[in-house]
Amino acid sequence: MKLPELKIGSFTARIPIIQGGMSIRVSTSALAIPVAECGGIGTIGGSGIPVSELQEDIRRAKAATTGIIAVNIMYAMRDFHELVIGSIEAGVDMIITGAGFSRDIFRIGREHKVPIVSIVSSPEFAKLAEKFGAAAIVVESAEAGGHLGTDKPLREIFPEIRKVVSKVPLIAAGGITDGFEMAEMMDKYGADGIQIASRFVLSEECSVSREFKETYLRAHKEDIVNVQSPVGMTGRAIRTPFIDRLERGEDVSPEKCKYKCLKQCSYKYCINDRLMASCTGDVENGLVFSGANAYKMKEILPVREIFRQFVRDAESVYKEGGEKR
Ligand SMILES: Cc1cc2nc3c(=O)[nH]c(=O)nc-3n(C[C@H](O)[C@H](O)[C@H](O)COP(=O)(O)O)c2cc1C
Repeated sequence: MKLPELKIGSFTARIPIIQGGMSIRVSTSALAIPVAECGGIGTIGGSGIPVSELQEDIRRAKAATTGIIAVNIMYAMRDFHELVIGSIEAGVDMIITGAGFSRDIFRIGREHKVPIVSIVSSPEFAKLAEKFGAAAIVVESAEAGGHLGTDKPLREIFPEIRKVVSKVPLIAAGGITDGFEMAEMMDKYGADGIQIASRFVLSEECSVSREFKETYLRAHKEDIVNVQSPVGMTGRAIRTPFIDRLERGEDVSPEKCKYKCLKQCSYKYCINDRLMASCTGDVENGLVFSGANAYKMKEILPVREIFRQFVRDAESVYKEGGEKR
């Protein structure tokens, strides 16, 4: 059966797939444009880059597609407010925000008529997000890549949050690798759509280095580990020599903080430099964020083909309303 559209605020995505935002320069307009063209929501990772660079990338995306372009901004960033306002000025369609939130962002969204989508990992934050005015809520589980807000798997945390959110679309994120799982989340668990990220790292259009993608392709289940992030949260990444050094307790802290990018930082290592290193090819000294199930994906595909396969497989089993809600 045909998949339903995903309506967020005044926007309608033909295909209920959000491409998860990936900082730093993992998801740029190069990825967001083809995703938006395929009928999903293309998200530029907005954290950890200068506001001017983010604005230029949003403008590039908006000029290239009539599809939906979002930006993902982490509340943990010191320049969170500037990134939000800068994105709105550049004409972004929607703002997706995680790692905590303030009431302020919802007021800004209302004033500028820009939908705010909250990423949450607990029923408490989901309730707050709905109350404050989130246009949609993404439930991000323990299988997600990047910074994690819970240790509960998707099929445990999603039903808990499904029970308390009734007014806005609820999106499932974390470890989804194919259309069958997409249909399962929508049919059986009552999700209105999904957010996926690792699958899009292995796309032709994702602008990370060849070495970054090869680390994904080579990864076995046991290579995907939790790592302490200087943000003060656990992160999920593929083991690299840098993680070995961290685990051995070697001093990998920078001599001097170059960016002052985070509201709070342990300074144990520079997350900006380490993510950037792997993005540009120095995987040995870098951090390669990935979802827990990235090891299941063994092919680099064009974005259009990823969409085609997800929709084909999801629609082959999707039954509207299945055991919904
Ligand atoms: C390389 C990478 C970078 C990420 N960066 C961010 C980020 O900056 N902000 C954020 O909210 N989520 C980030 N995430 C999480 C994704 O947006 C997404 O919700 C999650 O990874 C979904 O799980 P999946 O990768 O198994 O599909 C990142 C994930 C990856 C793999």
